[in-house]
Amino acid sequence: MKGSAPDLKVGLTFDDVLLVPKFSDVRSRKDADTQARFSRRIRLTIPVVSANMDTVTESSMAIAMARLGGIGVIHRFLSVDDEVAEVIKVKRSEGVVIEDPITLGPDGTVKEAWDIIRERDIGGIVVVGQDRRILGLLTRRDITLEEDLDRKVKTVMTPRRELVTAPKGVTLEQARRILHENKVEKLPLVDRNGKLAGLITSKDIMKRRQFPSATKDAKGRLRVAAAVGVKGDHMARSRRLLDAGVDALVVDIAHGHSSYAIDTVRGIKKELGDVEVVAGNVATARGALDLIKAGADSVKVGVGSGSICVTRVVTGSGVPQLTAIMDSAAGASDSDVPIIGDGGIRNPGDVTKALAAGASTVMIGSLFAGTEESPGPTILRDGVRYKLTRGMASLAATLDRRVREGGPGVLTEDELIEELIEESVPEGVEGLIPYKGRVDEVVKQLVGGLRSGMSYSGAHTLDELRRNAEFMRITAAGHRESLPHDIQKVV
Ligand code: XMP
Repeated sequence: MKGSAPDLKVGLTFDDVLLVPKFSDVRSRKDADTQARFSRRIRLTIPVVSANMDTVTESSMAIAMARLGGIGVIHRFLSVDDEVAEVIKVKRSEGVVIEDPITLGPDGTVKEAWDIIRERDIGGIVVVGQDRRILGLLTRRDITLEEDLDRKVKTVMTPRRELVTAPKGVTLEQARRILHENKVEKLPLVDRNGKLAGLITSKDIMKRRQFPSATKDAKGRLRVAAAVGVKGDHMARSRRLLDAGVDALVVDIAHGHSSYAIDTVRGIKKELGDVEVVAGNVATARGALDLIKAGADSVKVGVGSGSICVTRVVTGSGVPQLTAIMDSAAGASDSDVPIIGDGGIRNPGDVTKALAAGASTVMIGSLFAGTEESPGPTILRDGVRYKLTRGMASLAATLDRRVREGGPGVLTEDELIEELIEESVPEGVEGLIPYKGRVDEVVKQLVGGLRSGMSYSGAHTLDELRRNAEFMRITAAGHRESLPHDIQKVV
């Protein structure tokens, strides 16, 4: 109304609230079931997603995430070939049956075999003739000490007559027994005509036992998602990623409540058919609803919430993350489309709060950037190991991207960098993060905290957590009291 102050809405984030403890008959943390939905059709055993950032998720992180029961989103700041290769590495990392094993001809050289083994990180190659008839098997062990790299593969492989094989259609238990009894690690499958029809490895069978909650597709392969943009090569990229077996495409731009994002979701759904599409980022009910109407199977929520974001400082725009999740979940409530709470998770308690507020999963960036599985080397400074994390809209990430894509016309790399430094308005920063070891240790802390949090809320499932949640807004004094205080901290 003219002359009066506008009725301002209050935005809250994780540290502004606590969950009020409720009567609980959850007897053990193990009784808290953390099953969640990443998207309309993809289920996870833990509600954890690794972020599509170039310092967080490539194939190693995605493999680790899927083995633990979550999922990773491969970032899009790679060439199409490289992003596709990362997806293929995840899909090939384990499976009940590798349907299309990597092969080499008999006249290939030991050097070619090494190149393939190293590039694909595999233990061996099936050697086939032109008609895919099996001629032999070459394993790392056969060539580890070979000095003549020009030697033909056919002279070092285990030949067909000495190979243990099984018919196509063998059950997993039969395959396990054959591998065990013959003390071999690879079992090529053969069709009626003696042609290669698949491969089962002892490593994959062991992984199945080791990671019983892994996120897998119908063929027993680990699931993986991959990000695409909204301009340029995004449709061709999407097509290639789908051909490589990606389980979900994540249409990801900073301002997802935009005609760009909506048109892209519609376009993918129309042209690429029945594909699982995640879209974002938004921070409002209307934003979530508009993406859902366009066909999104999951909505990513968070504007300026990330640890490396300066969007709110630079643009003045954003919504504190707890309110963003609550509002977006309200926008999605008439559909069966889940919400991903993206960014701002600093403690296990934040995961519980995000899920209680209406998110089905949380996406995590910098908390995972310091782990072994994130891309990039560790950096030693003053005797302490660090890894790098950076916003995807930071100056460094923008420069890398533009240099990779090539400058317009005649600009040299140096001129391009100079121009970008002058023009660019970064919405992200970069920084060092202490090295934390393997990501499963970090996930264990997050999920352990979540299970305890569910127990405090009297919740056996995440749906119950959402229904039972009673948030209490706290003061700065209440927040101070929540942290360790009045002691000299030892650890
Ligand atoms: P955390 O807090 O887990 O957040 O590190 C990860 C999320 O941050 C977002 N992201 C950005 N946001 N500028 C932004 O405003 C950036 O440069 C940037 N890079 C990443 C993204 O949503 C990610 O998942």
